[in-house]
Amino acid sequence: MQGLPSARQTSLARRALSAIFATMDTTESLSRSLLAWYDAHARVLPWRVSPQDRAAGVRPDPYRVWLSEVMLQQTTVAAVKDYFHRFTARWPTVAALAAAPDADVMGEWAGLGYYARARNLLKCARAVVADHGGQFPTTRDGLLTLPGIGPYTASAIAAIAYDEPATVVDGNVERVISRIFLVKTPLPAAKPELTALAARLTPRTRPGDYAQAIMDLGATICTPRSPACGICPWVHACAARAAGVQSDLPAKSPKADKPIRHGTLWLGHRDDAILLERRPDKGLLGGMLGFPGDGWDGQGGPAPAEAPWQDIGEVRHTFTHFHLILRIHTARLDTPHSRGDLMPRHSFRPADLPTVMRKAWDLARDTLGN
Ligand code: ADE
Repeated sequence: MQGLPSARQTSLARRALSAIFATMDTTESLSRSLLAWYDAHARVLPWRVSPQDRAAGVRPDPYRVWLSEVMLQQTTVAAVKDYFHRFTARWPTVAALAAAPDADVMGEWAGLGYYARARNLLKCARAVVADHGGQFPTTRDGLLTLPGIGPYTASAIAAIAYDEPATVVDGNVERVISRIFLVKTPLPAAKPELTALAARLTPRTRPGDYAQAIMDLGATICTPRSPACGICPWVHACAARAAGVQSDLPAKSPKADKPIRHGTLWLGHRDDAILLERRPDKGLLGGMLGFPGDGWDGQGGPAPAEAPWQDIGEVRHTFTHFHLILRIHTARLDTPHSRGDLMPRHSFRPADLPTVMRKAWDLARDTLGN
């Protein structure tokens, strides 16, 4: 048997307990003040159930939550809105999307970038239908088993669609947390620390609204360059603001300069047709429609047909890891071609092209007399 604790042990334990309660109180009052701010200032977004409707018992549609979260990866809310409207008008349910032809989905995604997301979107929709009876799994762990759903997306869907107290950390949240807790470690090394701190703040009440609230706070008030601290619900708790360094956080490790790559695109045409090629599923612009090119690795490569190719200029496009400069060649094709397919003009929709191909088309259009 152990004896009674000494006075010193008791005092240490009391202090530890009061520190814990003080933290609980702070974290609880932080989530409460953020949720009160969200109730008054939530952004109206096409995939969102407002906090008032949520309180009245309206549940978000997991399909719309999933679709929006996939679209929002590495993409701004402003860029996503129209795509979200078009997708949900054309495919209102996960079953409808699962039944869509690949080419239709890739075409509808054209211009949004990061095309692996569209391929995984289809894989995921088909897995939900084939393996889950058309219903998304209702937990973070269950969601993680689906193709294209990683830790961030699983947390976001679990929190927003099912009110699981999962911690959601995107770029906006990283910024807010690094400032509140004055985390000076540069990104990306700071990610685990920021995630652990964000988890401490995640409440058990209204976790879905809380996840969206902290993202809204980062997007509208705790902005990168000039945060609007004067109207921030967390201003009194913000350690970066107290130290006057809020605009310097989060610190970021210097990025390596992007290399420049050069290549060629060939736009072959006839009066009634354009030469197009679907790119292989794997790799850059995988699965997307485009004009035949060389490997874009500076090595050159053969044209898709013997023809009087004319160099009409260049287009430039920046991808995540490199800048690309492409010389655009056009020719009338009166000879057989070795790659691609001639698509009738009337079924060619430039909107189905990814942005770099669209730029080439815009440059060539006048030459082709369109
Ligand atoms: N960014 C990523 N997911 C978001 C969401 N659900 N609401 C607002 N911004 C977001």
